[in-house]
Amino acid sequence: MLILSLTIATGVVSALPQFGGGFGGPGGNHDGPPFGGFGSSSPLPWSPPGPGDVRSPCPALNTLANHDLLPHSGKGITTEDIISAFAIGQNFAADTVTGAAAGALALCSSETGVNCTSWDLDMLDKPHAIEHDNSLSREDYNFGRDNNTVFSPQIWGQVLRVWHGAPIIDFNLANAARAERLAVSNATDAPGWFVPAVAAGYHETAFYLSLFGDPVEGNARQDWIDIWFQQERMPFEQGWTATQRETITAASLNTMVAKLQAL
Ligand code: HEM
Ligand SMILES: *[C@@H]1O[C@H](CO)[C@@H](O)[C@H](O)[C@H]1NC(C)=O
Ligand SMILES: *[C@@H]1O[C@H](CO)[C@@H](O)[C@H](O)[C@H]1NC(C)=O
Ligand SMILES: *[C@@H]1O[C@H](CO)[C@@H](O)[C@H](O)[C@H]1NC(C)=O
Repeated sequence: MLILSLTIATGVVSALPQFGGGFGGPGGNHDGPPFGGFGSSSPLPWSPPGPGDVRSPCPALNTLANHDLLPHSGKGITTEDIISAFAIGQNFAADTVTGAAAGALALCSSETGVNCTSWDLDMLDKPHAIEHDNSLSREDYNFGRDNNTVFSPQIWGQVLRVWHGAPIIDFNLANAARAERLAVSNATDAPGWFVPAVAAGYHETAFYLSLFGDPVEGNARQDWIDIWFQQERMPFEQGWTATQRETITAASLNTMVAKLQAL
């Protein structure tokens, strides 16, 4: 999700703090988990979006809405909602999401012309804003082909072919998938559309490797990654819990991004 700058409708490019100031550290400001707590093995309820519900190009946000940690409607999301949902649902520190939450509010404000205090998931589909090309799991926007909030088996199949059935995704395999998507988007987008999203690609790679592997070493389980992208569901049934690894912080993500870039 995260990109270093956000192009807003006015044409202004505002520098987004990639990882903004924290709100009191891991756990955010929620009063307590609504389920068995961190480390609970009981899965959260899950249901797909229903009529009138909206979703985003971000698999993390969509998953949290499907599990009711964000509003299931996908509408009226506040920064407090984001911090709490990512803390409870994924064991992410507040400082991993405050920058992106501020970016979403800024995008909402620029799109609606009012000072937003909350936003809807589908507002994030504006192309070349926070949304970008060469995604791992959905189509590029591509001059009006507006299908970027929906998981694409065809695009994701390009990633799975690179991974070739490997059960564990390490830094090299993750980078290879990212590079393949850059190359395919570059080669197949309509002439003049493609804008390579290199920095965002590294950050999103660090996100999923940390979420489903180790926040230092990566090495994420491919089956967990696959379920999350395809179904927008946390892989509880396959043994994943939010606290099987350390809390993910802005610092741990930045360190992993540097390792990915150095390869
Ligand atoms: C307020 C917080 C967040 C916002 C507003 C946000 C927004 C977005 C957006 C707009 C995209 C689409 C980029 C594209 O075109 O591919 C995206 C992609 C992504 N986001 Fe988020 N995101 C947030 C937090 C997170 C977090 C905490 C994670 C951690 C797991 C995450 C993981 C991802 C991944 C892996 C992608 C890439 C999807 C792909 O390439 O198919 N996001 N996000
Ligand atoms: C929007 O609202 C926030 C919070 O009340 C405030 O800090 C900010 O200055 C406002 N911005 C504008 C452009 O009115
Ligand atoms: C959008 O993408 C989905 C998944 O790949 C596909 O089933 C659907 O036909 C696409 N819709 C359009 C309008 O291209
Ligand atoms: C895109 O393709 C062109 C033409 O082959 C090449 O010059 C350019 O370096 C490529 N850009 C990326 C980001 O792959």
